[in-house]
Amino acid sequence: MGTSFDGALAGEAGPTGLVPGPGCRVVAVGAAVPAAVLANRQLTTFLSTSEEWISSRTGIEERRVAPAEMSVADLGLRAARTALGAAGLPAGAIDAVIGTSSSVDATFPSVACRIQAGLGCPPGPAFDLQAACTGMIYGIAVADAMVRAGSARRVLVVGSEIFTRVVDWRDRGTAVLFGDAAGAVVVGPATDPGSEILAARLGADGRGADALVAGAEGAGPEGTGTIPDPMSPDRPAPPRSLGRVVRMNGREVFRFSTTILERLVRELAAAAEIAPADLELVVSHQANSRILATAAGRLGLPIERFAVNVDRYGNTSTASVPLALAEAALAGRCRPGASVGLIAFGGGLTWGGILLRWGDTAVGLDDARVADRRAAAVPVGTRDGREEAGG
Ligand code: ACO
Repeated sequence: MGTSFDGALAGEAGPTGLVPGPGCRVVAVGAAVPAAVLANRQLTTFLSTSEEWISSRTGIEERRVAPAEMSVADLGLRAARTALGAAGLPAGAIDAVIGTSSSVDATFPSVACRIQAGLGCPPGPAFDLQAACTGMIYGIAVADAMVRAGSARRVLVVGSEIFTRVVDWRDRGTAVLFGDAAGAVVVGPATDPGSEILAARLGADGRGADALVAGAEGAGPEGTGTIPDPMSPDRPAPPRSLGRVVRMNGREVFRFSTTILERLVRELAAAAEIAPADLELVVSHQANSRILATAAGRLGLPIERFAVNVDRYGNTSTASVPLALAEAALAGRCRPGASVGLIAFGGGLTWGGILLRWGDTAVGLDDARVADRRAAAVPVGTRDGREEAGG
């Protein structure tokens, strides 16, 4: 997995700056996670690893695993329904659907077409785009351009991943990292001047393509013996979805990720003519807590300025930004008028950032375990999902 993408890292992140035209905003954010938890301790029963190694090198403590009968579109549909439900939007209000996933169950039909049908949206455009973990940022930027161009009024972007079906559970270098989740964002015209998509930066450097691969060609030295089912290691896992496995040059990806994350924060801030310290919240792709801490340190920002939930979900690829954003907003971390940076990086190599002025955005989270935890923590009846989803 040799890589030679240093040249791109020395240059500009991408051509997209402040987006011209009438304003656009994030109308709603929703996320959904499966209920089943796979903790680090369980991984140590079949992988040559330790809870201490995983926790200290990645910050991950546990991840979620989708049940066998759930499709990538099913999980995405849950996130989409959560976003629409939080905003009180009917499916008929969605003119176009963009799907993004690196763990699709089928090359076609697209996840977007499944979600369009599942929601009952009108027969407008529906398509998937592939930008690995950066898919959600690319999707929001494309949706923003469609709305500004007048080709759609509201665009639903859904990132859904069941990565546990493409992970090689014999490969300790990647198996400990990934989990399942979905996130959805509705992009529409800005009606409130306080709520807006201010800037988008997109980039890719295909010279780094081999650093991170989900494909049949990725089979490496670990590819001997039967892949165990992580939830029940005595049994073999089902065949990997579309025959794919993930392979990664961890050190190269780590170096790329820290460099690009720092640079995107600086570029988003510069686009809005503010200092990085004026960003009230950075919602980065959740790959590894050390990546976040390293970038925060280089930027001179406290880690508290970053949303961090990789400990509970692992790397959920294109779902990670909307999942982290939904949790942060529900926790009251997005003040109206705040500058919020969304940033992702991943296979391709790809990267992207969106700068939001936070405003009247509806937020929801579909996680049966949150209700469980809250029921234990507060008197029953003082909180419910609807109240929490009001964000
Ligand atoms: N348990 C125990 N030991 C392990 C494990 C494990 N799970 N995985 C690797 N090791 C070993 C290696 O074999 C190596 O052993 P050796 O020295 O005997 O050869 C040693 O640990 C160090 O390996 P490194 O790869 O150098 O470990 P590093 O500190 O770099 O951590 C990690 C590895 C966590 C993967 C890190 O490189 C990383 O986070 N990279 C970025 C990962 C990432 O973010 N990927 C996705 C981003 S893009 C996307 O989301 C699609």
